[in-house]
Amino acid sequence: MSETTEKKKVILSAIQPSGTITLGNYLGALRNWVKLQDEYNCIFAVADLHAITVRQEPKTFRQNILNAYALLLACGIDTDKSPVFIQSHVPTHAELAWILNCYTQFGELSRMTQFKDKSQKHSDNVNAGLFTYPVLMAADILLYQADMVPVGADQKQHLEIARKIAERFNGIYGTTFKIPEPYIAKVGARVMSLQDPTKKMSKSDENVNSWVAVLDKPDVIMKKFKRAVTDSEAVVRVGEGKDGINNLIGIMSAVTGKTAEEIETEFEGKGYGDFKTAVGEAVIETVKPIQNRFNDLLNNKDYLVEKYRSGAEFALKISSRTLDKAMKKIGFIAR
Ligand code: TYM
Repeated sequence: MSETTEKKKVILSAIQPSGTITLGNYLGALRNWVKLQDEYNCIFAVADLHAITVRQEPKTFRQNILNAYALLLACGIDTDKSPVFIQSHVPTHAELAWILNCYTQFGELSRMTQFKDKSQKHSDNVNAGLFTYPVLMAADILLYQADMVPVGADQKQHLEIARKIAERFNGIYGTTFKIPEPYIAKVGARVMSLQDPTKKMSKSDENVNSWVAVLDKPDVIMKKFKRAVTDSEAVVRVGEGKDGINNLIGIMSAVTGKTAEEIETEFEGKGYGDFKTAVGEAVIETVKPIQNRFNDLLNNKDYLVEKYRSGAEFALKISSRTLDKAMKKIGFIAR
């Protein structure tokens, strides 16, 4: 996102460094970020502040943040085109989040399905951060005056509340924030669990066979696909009540670029065993180069440090303009 090409539309997106990054994250988000880099002014973040809404073990957390950063670059984000920063390195995010908290209604946050799910899952730690999480996400987006936010379908509700908060603020003080549009790709927007294909694939799922990590070893990936839940029809076709097969066809389509019809024709007369092996192989082929680049990057920590420092510097510069503008409108005295 260079300042000389300011006419291009702005894209911002982020990923949490909570544990491993899944095939769902890759197909639903990261892969699209890579594709959008030339056409838009992109800026991406590792949303580490978001991750502490759930308890993190410090040493693992630190490593996960660095891993997530390296993985974004390994997936093909080019920091010369798209700065990548670590959220906690840019203080404007927490500052604007506090301000926006005061323009967000309790009732609105209570309706967030992710809050309901997570507060059930972590019933011993239903903290205020978990509740106000969408406000921090709104701050992430609004600080950069983002036109579009490429995300998977699960983040749509959070995008809606970000729009609502921006509209409310603009309604009171005049145009301050750009109203962002979600960018949800047609293919890969909702990768489902391999064990319960009515639920989204999620790294927080306790059943490790339900998700595939981008960094899983080839034999692990193959094993997980071979164990994937299907149905008793034994015909590779998209259909109602065939959630498992629909999901596998969706994954196959996303990684090969083939349409569902092409995949159905290719596997006509073949059983689910052959199909699952083929999906596993296609996914392994997709992640192999990413894994190689990831390993190289982790061996070059100085390079990563240089990149995340320059990313944060850039992000602070851009985001401070919006924060200052919003604070001035509210009536704070300029620093
Ligand atoms: P997170 O870290 O859970 O996921 C990162 C991205 O991956 C997408 N995704 C999926 N897409 C398809 N199928 C799936 N099974 C799947 N699981 C995850 C998510 O939709 C997301 O795009 N709150 C965000 C992170 C965030 C953010 C932001 C995003 C913080 N600030 C500002 C956009 C803009 C989150 O928890 O994503």
